[in-house]
Amino acid sequence: MYTPQAGIFALGTSSHAYLEFDVLDTKKRQEFASTIAAIREPRTTTGGVNFVIGFRPELWRDLAPEDTPPGVEGFNNEVKGTEGFTMPATQHDALVWLSGSAYDVIFDMARSVVHDLAGLATLSEETSSWPYRHDRDLTGFIDGSENPTLLEAPSAALLPEGFPGAAGSVLLLQKWKHKTSEWEALPVPQQERTMGRTKLDSIELEDKPEDSHVARTDQDEFGHIFRRNMPYGDVEDHGTVFVGFSADQKRLSKMLDSMAGLVNGKRDALTRFTQPLTGSYYFVPSVESLLRLR
Ligand code: HEM
Repeated sequence: MYTPQAGIFALGTSSHAYLEFDVLDTKKRQEFASTIAAIREPRTTTGGVNFVIGFRPELWRDLAPEDTPPGVEGFNNEVKGTEGFTMPATQHDALVWLSGSAYDVIFDMARSVVHDLAGLATLSEETSSWPYRHDRDLTGFIDGSENPTLLEAPSAALLPEGFPGAAGSVLLLQKWKHKTSEWEALPVPQQERTMGRTKLDSIELEDKPEDSHVARTDQDEFGHIFRRNMPYGDVEDHGTVFVGFSADQKRLSKMLDSMAGLVNGKRDALTRFTQPLTGSYYFVPSVESLLRLR
């Protein structure tokens, strides 16, 4: 029986940091892996920190081939959609996602992770995020309405027992920058047709357009995933950190293809108002697989 990393399912945290690293010397990847697997949260019964550790799938395959699901790969090529729309590939070697109740503990722990990995890896991308009006994305819409419940989420997010990589998960991390003034110039009924749900209370539209976001990512068509998206950024420059976990990478990659217009020629209308700046896949191994690296 394998155990998933607990941070995947730790809802309700209001401060986050996503630290993406690149290994400096591939000959030292084993040392890097044992150092990252030795990360530990501050010991406290109050105000602790959750973390999730993921590896570029190709790096994970080198480290633990028997624990790697077949066919999983990094975000190695941009997604070239219709009408010149592209999703960039900005794959890094590893991710440490920290989450907690306040940014001070995240900040301190992020610094200690970077310190521990000094000389082995560089911090290539750092983003922090925070909740907006309890459960809303910066578009003003409730994000997560069609997420599985915490009892259903493990079967959507985790590789099943008996498979290589059991209790591990494939994570898609993408930072999307919103075109806020264009979005806000759109009357609410059009925003709702773009999303496919009502803005105030997130009711799915009976007659949602085929290019609406929820039609282009319909989980009945592509399979179920578990999302932990969060808003990021400052007043001028902000958007969504898409954080999606799946038992099967194809569910995520097909959703991206579908949003880009590559499934039925209908590009997701939401992609006209927000642009991905980054894109990486990470394999998030089970606790037992991580402990074997130490
Ligand atoms: C800027 C980027 C994005 C924003 C602001 C956004 C926002 C939303 C919102 C507001 C909903 C409706 C409520 C809900 O069910 O959660 C939704 C649904 C959904 N989104 Fe996104 N999303 C973004 C990107 C993505 C990406 C990149 C994927 C997949 C790779 C994705 C997958 C989904 C799925 C699976 C659903 C539920 C669809 C269903 O009804 O079955 N989203 N999203």
